[in-house]
Amino acid sequence: MRPQHPVALISGASSGIGAATARSLAAEGYHLALGARRAAAVRTLAEELAAEHGIRTFTGALDVRSTGSVKTFVDGAVESLGAIHVIVNNAGLARGTDPMATVPEATWREMFETNVEGVLRVTQAALPHVRAAGWGHVVFLGSTASHGVYDGGAVYCGTKHAIRAFTQTLRLELCGEPIRVSTVDPGMVETEFSVVRMGGKEKADAVYRGMTPLRAEDIAECIRWLLSLPDHVNIDEILVKPRDQAAFTRIHRRPG
Ligand SMILES: NC(=O)c1ccc[n+]([C@@H]2O[C@H](COP(=O)([O-])OP(=O)(O)OC[C@H]3O[C@@H](n4cnc5c(N)ncnc54)[C@H](OP(=O)(O)O)[C@@H]3O)[C@@H](O)[C@H]2O)c1
Repeated sequence: MRPQHPVALISGASSGIGAATARSLAAEGYHLALGARRAAAVRTLAEELAAEHGIRTFTGALDVRSTGSVKTFVDGAVESLGAIHVIVNNAGLARGTDPMATVPEATWREMFETNVEGVLRVTQAALPHVRAAGWGHVVFLGSTASHGVYDGGAVYCGTKHAIRAFTQTLRLELCGEPIRVSTVDPGMVETEFSVVRMGGKEKADAVYRGMTPLRAEDIAECIRWLLSLPDHVNIDEILVKPRDQAAFTRIHRRPG
């Protein structure tokens, strides 16, 4: 049975899609467990959403690369909010566009440890609580990079292909249980993502020059929608791109 106020755990809620999803779910009455390394940012967001929507929140410093950090966060969330119903596996990043032949080990480690191992860690820690709650949903943040590849994207695309495999496998393994599994796979969304990837605002701005990217709120709306559907409906996958982006290399840019 879907509770009146489900508890959603969102990793990477300090900016971008994670923060927008927190806003969107708070407006629907979800109680929220929000985590990221920038603990002050999630705390500020949680205080604002609690005051605005009267929801309960739990926040904490969360580094998905650390098993201890994930355990402390998940245990704290359950102790504070009593349950976890929804996991939004959002924390992730791309770093650079180095070719596979030369991508530094520290760079590929960071992406795999965050995007792949981090998602495994959070899912393994939180899923027993979703199962115990008897109703739930596991949402993954994939990407168009889950579906294809591009020059300079070997590692990031590899991590997001893994997310697609995780989603599809968990969907099989939970079939018959009252838990839905979905992946939302965006194209270009203007968040801090490109600032992190390109190493600065100026280079990040160039990524979106002359085209209209998706906003974090667009992806949050996809997540809100798939959660809102009747329990017998499982949206396995949403592939969502800006109208201006038909493919990785086919982007409509207006001059000027
Ligand atoms: N923007 C796009 O174009 C796009 C497209 C497709 C998919 N995605 C995916 O969408 C997800 C969210 O990205 P975004 O666009 O919202 O980028 P963003 O604004 O940079 O947000 C990324 C979030 O992940 C968190 N994070 C990074 N490393 C972490 C770690 N080790 N432990 C905990 N949290 C961590 C960051 O928080 P802290 O730095 O505070 O830890 C931040 O809250 C990612 O999985 C990304 O791959 C993005």
